[in-house]
Amino acid sequence: MTTGREYDPFSYEIDEDPYPTYRWMRDEAPVYYNERLDFYALTRFADNLAAFIDAETYSSFHSTSLEFMDGPKPDSGLMIWMDPPEHNRYRALVSKAFTPRQIGKIEQSVRAVAVAHLDALVGRERFDIVRDFTARLPMDVISSLLGIPQSDRRWLQERSNAMMHREPGNPMPTREAIDAQGEVHDFIHAQMNERRSHPRDDLMTRLVEVEITEDDGTRVNLRDHDVKMFIVLLATAGNETVTKLLAAMYLDLWRFPDERVRLLAEPALIANAVEEGLRFETPSQYQGRVTTRSVELHGKAIPAGARVLLINAAANRDERKFPDPDRFDVGREIDLHLALGYGRHVCLGAYLARMESRIGIEELLKRFPDYRIPDDGIERMHSSNVRGLSGLVMETG
Ligand code: HEM
Repeated sequence: MTTGREYDPFSYEIDEDPYPTYRWMRDEAPVYYNERLDFYALTRFADNLAAFIDAETYSSFHSTSLEFMDGPKPDSGLMIWMDPPEHNRYRALVSKAFTPRQIGKIEQSVRAVAVAHLDALVGRERFDIVRDFTARLPMDVISSLLGIPQSDRRWLQERSNAMMHREPGNPMPTREAIDAQGEVHDFIHAQMNERRSHPRDDLMTRLVEVEITEDDGTRVNLRDHDVKMFIVLLATAGNETVTKLLAAMYLDLWRFPDERVRLLAEPALIANAVEEGLRFETPSQYQGRVTTRSVELHGKAIPAGARVLLINAAANRDERKFPDPDRFDVGREIDLHLALGYGRHVCLGAYLARMESRIGIEELLKRFPDYRIPDDGIERMHSSNVRGLSGLVMETG
C-alpha cells in the first residue's frame, strides 16, 4: 500500500496542475497504489517505456481509461483496446492511410484549412482560439479524410466534447455524455449507410467495403459495429488531442515570451517546438493497462489482473530523463518522449498530429506574432485522461 498523497485522475484540483503530484509519485512512490480506486501507476520514464514495450504483460484488452477498466472488452471494436492478433488485423486495415508518405500528400490542404480559419480572425481584437481554430482544424482534417460533410462538423465537435465530459469526483459518463455518445453513433451509422448506397473516395467508404479474413479463411466485411467504432476512434483520438496540444502551446508561447521570440526569429525550430509541446503538455496523460502476470518493480509486487496507469505525462517530466523538465524550451534536444505512446499501440496518427500542430503554430505566428491572454480567458475541460483547455481567449489589438 502507498500512503501519503493521493493521485486521483478524476480530481479537478489535481487536473489544474498534476505535475507536483507526479513528481512526488516519481520520487516517493514509483509504483504507486491507490487503495480507494484500486489501481497502480507508473510515473518514471524508464518504467513507462519498459511497460509500453512489454505489451504481453501490460494488456490493453480491458480498456485504457480507468473508468472503463472493469473487465475485458471483447466486443469494443476499438483497436486501442485490443491485444494481438485482433489488434494487428485492425491496425493493418488503416495504417496505410497514415504513413508519412500519405500524410505528406495532404499537407497543402491541411495548410489551406488552417489559413482559411486564421485569416478569418485577422482584424478581430479578441477571439477564442480554441473555439475558432484549434478545435476546428483537426476536426476538418479527419472529417475530410473520412468524408464527413462540412455542415455537420461543428455539431459533431460539440457532441464529441460532451461525450468526454466528466463531473468532479465522478468517473462515469454523465447522462448528457451518454446521450451525446448515442447521437454521435447514430450520426456515423447514417453516414455509413449513405456510403453503401453512394460509395466515394474517402476512408469511410474504404472501411465499409474492406474485407478481413476470418480464422477459417473466409473473407467478410467488418461488422457495422466495428466500422462505427473505428470511425469513432479516429474522430475522437485525433480531435481532442491536437486541439489540446495547440491550445496549450499558444498559452505556453504567451507565458514564455522568450520562446515565442525564438520561434519568430527561427521558424525552422517550430517542428522541434511541437515535440517540446508534446513532452511538456502531453494531452493524453495516461494509458491504462491490466497485468496478465504478476510483476515486481522497485521492490513492490503488482499482482496479475491489476489495473496499471502508465502516466506518460509524468514520464515526460522525469528529471532522470529530461534535464530541468519543468522548463518549456523550444530548442530542447529530445530523442524520445512518450506523449504519443510507444510500441504496439503507438499513436496511429503521429505524423498527422505532428504536421497539423506544426502548421497550426507556423500560421498562427505569421498572423499573430504578439498576443495576450486575459486572466479570465483560460477555461479547462475535465476528462479522465485527456488534459487541456476548452477555451483560450486571445487579445491581439
Ligand atoms: C497531439 C495529438 C495526439 C496525441 C497526444 C495522441 C496520443 C496517443 C497515444 C498516447 C496513443 C497510445 C494509446 C495507448 O498506448 O493505449 C495513441 C494511439 C492512437 N492514436 Fe493518437 N494522439 C494524437 C493524435 C492522433 C491523431 C491525429 C489521430 C488520427 C488518426 C490519432 C489516432 C490514434 C489511434 C487510432 C490510436 C490507437 C492505435 C492503436 O491502438 O494501435 N491520434 N495516440
